[in-house]
Amino acid sequence: MPEQTAVQAHIWINGQPVESRSDMTVAAALIQYQHQQTHVSVSGQPRFAVCGMGVCQECRVSINGQPHRLACQEYCCSGMVINTEYGGQ
Ligand code: FES
Repeated sequence: MPEQTAVQAHIWINGQPVESRSDMTVAAALIQYQHQQTHVSVSGQPRFAVCGMGVCQECRVSINGQPHRLACQEYCCSGMVINTEYGGQ
């Protein structure tokens, strides 16, 4: 199987344009670009990616309008629109 090469990914995080890469998860992009929390709970509490493997559910965001997507399980791709507030609701 040929090795895939990561490409630059132009994404949007809470309305801000961000340069990322296709080999980065959304959770990694959130951390790299200093969005220290991965989302805000419905009670306004900051939440953080904990497990990085799809178990804790603490990294839920909205991706392209779909709520409750796990940021640690999604790779960045150009045009992706990410919302971190209220679990992406
Ligand atoms: S960090 Fe635990 S499910 Fe994403």
